Amino acid sequence: MSAISPIPALFSTPGKIAVVTGGSRGLGLHAATGLLLSGCSKVYITSRKASACEEAVKALNSIKGIHGKAISVPADISKPEEITRFVQELQKDTDHVDILVANAGATWGAPYGSWKKEYWDKVMTLNVTSVFLLVQEMTPLLAKNATVTDPSRVITTSSVAGIKGFSTGQNATFSYSASKAAVMHLTKHLAVALAPQRILCNSIAPGFFPSKMANALIDIYGGLDHLAKKNLNGRVGIEDDFAALVVFLSAKASGHVNGVVIPLDGGGHLVGDIFGEEEGEAPKAKL
Ligand SMILES: NC(=O)c1ccc[n+]([C@@H]2O[C@H](COP(=O)([O-])OP(=O)(O)OC[C@H]3O[C@@H](n4cnc5c(N)ncnc54)[C@H](OP(=O)(O)O)[C@@H]3O)[C@@H](O)[C@H]2O)c1
Repeated sequence: MSAISPIPALFSTPGKIAVVTGGSRGLGLHAATGLLLSGCSKVYITSRKASACEEAVKALNSIKGIHGKAISVPADISKPEEITRFVQELQKDTDHVDILVANAGATWGAPYGSWKKEYWDKVMTLNVTSVFLLVQEMTPLLAKNATVTDPSRVITTSSVAGIKGFSTGQNATFSYSASKAAVMHLTKHLAVALAPQRILCNSIAPGFFPSKMANALIDIYGGLDHLAKKNLNGRVGIEDDFAALVVFLSAKASGHVNGVVIPLDGGGHLVGDIFGEEEGEAPKAKL
């Protein structure tokens, strides 16, 4: 008789408490949806706009079959004082957190010659510094109930843009690709640093998924159909893809997965350039 646990027990998050940054829309909303459907008792979502958080929470709490609830805690996590306030707000409602999906992110596109320091600061601050500061402030909450057999989880959202695929030309995203490579490495560093507290840290590196942030770039690079046809598996990302991987990385099934980056792009990062240009044919940087 095999000692393997029942499969539903391996791939669910019963009674777990989760936090999703950037949970009001896009990939963060897919993550929050997946976590509620897989059994979380509470999923706190945050973004800057209180009304967007409220709307998302309303939609999440009306999903059929969920037993937990979504809770809105708006905050601008690009600001250290807001991270502190956000964590204090969480502590008013819970004494621990099992899963942190550090997902909020921003991008900036401009021609090489007109790049300014502020484009670096905005993107690096939210995509890298705030991830570190949030994990640091939340470590006591994440460590509270974490054990060898039931570790807590940090999941960061990086991007295949941090592996391969460099948007150039009029929309060169220098700080974005650098920030995503940085957050992948930061996640591995956190996996080592937080191992004694029994917190596993992994990163998801998505390719193109339709979202408010990605839609403009998707249009610039030929539209969804074009990008889908170019991709190895013939499509771009959909809601299920992100939700399913977040649930896996939060569930018992991934209890021995630590410090990895999982590309979620149908294999696109293995060939060519995710931005639709063939190898060696990137447009010349405008000076
Ligand atoms: N979609 C893709 O193709 C793709 C591919 C690779 C990686 N990613 C990554 O996936 C993550 C989510 O992106 P998305 O595509 O889902 O974009 P999105 O739809 O624009 O969502 C971004 C989320 O982050 C929130 N946010 C932005 N700035 C914030 C701040 N300072 N404090 C708190 N929340 C903030 C936004 O809400 P507010 O505006 O209300 O603050 C929103 O909820 C990002 O890290 C992105 O880099 C996306």
